[in-house]
Amino acid sequence: MNQEDLKEIAEKQKEANAPFEHNIHVCVAASCLSSHSDQVMTALDQEVKKRGLEQCCKVKGVGCMGLCAAGPLVSSGNNEKMFQNVTAMDAAAIVDNVVDEKPAPAAIVLDSKLPFFRGQKKIVLENCGEIDPEKIEDYIAVGGYEALFHALTSMTPAQVIEQISKSGLRGRGGAGFPTGLKWSTVAKAPGTKGKYVICNADEGDPGAFMDRSVLESDPHRILEGMAIAAYAVGANKGYIYCRAEYPLAVKRLKDAIKQAEKLGVLGNEVCDTRFSFRVEVRLGAGAFVCGEETALIASIEGNRGTPRPRPPFPAQSGLWGTPTLINNVETFANIAPIVRNGGDWFAGIGTEKSKGTKVFALAGRVTNTGLIEVPMGVSLREIVYKLGGGIPDGRKFKAVQTGGPSGGCIPEQYLDMAVDYESLASVGSIMGSGGMIVMDDSSCMVDVAKYFMDFCMSESCGKCVPCRVGTAHMYDLLAKITNGTASQEDLAMLERIAEVVKFTSLCGLGQTSPNPVFSTLRYFRDEYLNHIERKSCGAGVCSQPKAAGVGA
Ligand SMILES: Cc1cc2nc3c(=O)[nH]c(=O)nc-3n(C[C@H](O)[C@H](O)[C@H](O)COP(=O)(O)O)c2cc1C
Ligand code: SF4
Ligand code: SF4
Repeated sequence: MNQEDLKEIAEKQKEANAPFEHNIHVCVAASCLSSHSDQVMTALDQEVKKRGLEQCCKVKGVGCMGLCAAGPLVSSGNNEKMFQNVTAMDAAAIVDNVVDEKPAPAAIVLDSKLPFFRGQKKIVLENCGEIDPEKIEDYIAVGGYEALFHALTSMTPAQVIEQISKSGLRGRGGAGFPTGLKWSTVAKAPGTKGKYVICNADEGDPGAFMDRSVLESDPHRILEGMAIAAYAVGANKGYIYCRAEYPLAVKRLKDAIKQAEKLGVLGNEVCDTRFSFRVEVRLGAGAFVCGEETALIASIEGNRGTPRPRPPFPAQSGLWGTPTLINNVETFANIAPIVRNGGDWFAGIGTEKSKGTKVFALAGRVTNTGLIEVPMGVSLREIVYKLGGGIPDGRKFKAVQTGGPSGGCIPEQYLDMAVDYESLASVGSIMGSGGMIVMDDSSCMVDVAKYFMDFCMSESCGKCVPCRVGTAHMYDLLAKITNGTASQEDLAMLERIAEVVKFTSLCGLGQTSPNPVFSTLRYFRDEYLNHIERKSCGAGVCSQPKAAGVGA
């Protein structure tokens, strides 16, 4: 396989798509499939055949279109027309509309001009909803594997790293570490026993499904990013560590690896060069802590997935003691476009210190829930009110929780704040991997803190005492506050333990577990006091408060 072969495949696929006057795209990512989009696709196919339209109308399964809550989603004409909550029964009406311009039933028409769609900037998700994730030719037709070819044949590993550094890309797995710096550390590390590239597809944050969507919708993008990384750092073997709860992502990844090896864009002598790169998928059993890089590495090695102290960092001593590059799914998804368009192009998007775009899973009390990709630096208000369509049922906005269990709640006064790494940290939250939960006045913030503490307590691996005992103790205190039996001393104890757990835990799980407590105490202390002093929950969420003086 050389560059000419690749071009030929792309041309052939484009020609194969060309005769079709009409394209109907059906979302076949997990969330739409769970509402039977496979049946919708079969019904549309049958309808097209019944009318003898096979020559002019093509029905294609594509990845996630973003507005998951309205699924199954169908689109046509470069997303000019969109349909929501589609069932197999709607197939005839959709074909009528697409082919004969007959009006479609109002219930299934989705306004494709909604700011939810138009307000986004897609880099990571650019192929999602456009290409068939199960077909390598479809990926190649939109320029797939061109960046890998270009890197292997026209760039030195150092030049690749230079472009990644120039781009300003920071890791999307949570900590926001500069990707170029990590790559150059691994490249410089002596790898006498080899080096590894790992894609962290564990995605354990509650409510987060950004990585899953990319894996299900555009798996070759991840393989291409990993192969470019492997070339840059000098690795020949890669692992994708994906949680077993993502069976569709795992299947599509495995199929994509087979297709890529068959075409020679992965495997031995990639693209007819001297570079070889093999990738294997490893399944995680679904423990949140296994997303932590050292625990993940232990798990791949066949050991119990628990973190170890760093240094040494995986870049120096990772998988089987060798230099290992570990990046998140979304980080890898940004690599091919950076190599294709240059680091300066990427650095021109976003803010001074947070470059590019970020994918968020927008959830909670907001009209449009789903996946969005926006340039770094847009305001929270724009996300919640423009893309998200505001708070339903005329209720009042209360807070946005970002960063999952490691993050915090941001109150109304910061709605105009730019969403970037530094700004979010300055108000006591974090970007994290991209979970964004909008809350209205029906949420109790103490209950929210308790929810995340319950998660951390259950997911604590138990290796170190501050986290194992501290999260349980904090949870008990939060439970006491929400059930109206806590005193001021309990609140003081909660704050003391939170500090200890933050500063003495071994890994990020324990270190960040008090964050939701800190941020809710910072902005919603009155709600804690209300539970303690008046034994009442303003939002009416917590269990029936006991009469004053009862309990202790
Ligand atoms: C408890 C815990 C869970 C984590 N889970 C994930 C995860 O699911 N996916 C991920 O990419 N990073 C996760 N991380 C961060 C990883 O340790 C690591 O920083 C990241 O994979 C590096 O990739 P990046 O530089 O591309 O962000 C987690 C960290 C901690 C402490
Ligand atoms: S319960 Fe005991 S034996 Fe089992 S994993 Fe935990 S520490 Fe190890
Ligand atoms: S902080 Fe928690 S999750 Fe991390 S090693 Fe310690 S006990 Fe395990």
